[in-house]
Amino acid sequence: MSPDSSMTSQELLRWYVEAGVDETIADRPVDRFQEKTKAPEPKNVPAASPTAAESGGEKKGLADAAALSPAPSPSPSPPPSPREPSPEPSPGPSLLPPEGGADGEVTAAVHLAQSALTVDELRRALESFDGCGLKKTATNLVFTDGNPEAPVLFVGEGPGAEEDRQGLPFVGPSGKLLDRMLASIGLDRTGVLISNTVFWRPPGNRTPTAQETAVCLPFLERLIELVDPKVLVALGGPAAKSLLAQTEGVGRLRGRWFTYSTPGLPRPIDATAMFHPAYLLRSPGQKRDTWRDLLDIKKKLVS
Ligand code: URA
Repeated sequence: MSPDSSMTSQELLRWYVEAGVDETIADRPVDRFQEKTKAPEPKNVPAASPTAAESGGEKKGLADAAALSPAPSPSPSPPPSPREPSPEPSPGPSLLPPEGGADGEVTAAVHLAQSALTVDELRRALESFDGCGLKKTATNLVFTDGNPEAPVLFVGEGPGAEEDRQGLPFVGPSGKLLDRMLASIGLDRTGVLISNTVFWRPPGNRTPTAQETAVCLPFLERLIELVDPKVLVALGGPAAKSLLAQTEGVGRLRGRWFTYSTPGLPRPIDATAMFHPAYLLRSPGQKRDTWRDLLDIKKKLVS
């Protein structure tokens, strides 16, 4: 079915929602067909040069992610690590900008994040930061929810539609499940802190690019330093990859303990991974394993 001129505006809206168009990203629609037939710009008007953020693009992303990973290999896609996580520590991502300072946004992010001395300052720093392209299409910054003094920090992938609307992480359907998971081990948002690997919603809930993740990582690393939790939990594969510096999937990482360390931390932090609540909503059969993981986290917290 396609929209036609006999449709009422309500029918047309419903058609768009059913087709997956549930967000507007600009106040006015842009007629791209008209744009094509427009006369070319007069030659003597200087063209605006793209901003660093506009020209950054995804093609740099893989190299940046490799530079941020702790593995010394220059290869952009290192082979799977043969290391067992315990007792060998995972060194955590490097705080240094990529070699040669080629990536201005990541370098700026590192400096800005490191200048923050409190979680509130870090939030304000993020608010002022324009180096992540996701900010352009998002409604709100989604940084943290919960208690910055908490002994445990949960890190998901990135905000969804409801998080974008409210400016808070994990408040949509997967957040409701996360709350029930926390309650099952006697926790709620007064006793945990929750954040993500990227702080603005990727349009259409797509996976964040390596560049978007790399540019947000200095802020996440600084958050971990400032909160200095006893336990760090990555929710889902992308968060596990960023935080645990491992290449295996979350199915292989869950149930194991790693250590996360950066030069700004007084000591290494115990870190683990769990299935993402959104995955558990689709695959409830994995809840049994997740229950074990939750009990393990609880044990670590009281030890
Ligand atoms: N999924 C995430 O990874 N993070 C959120 O904040 C919400 C859903």
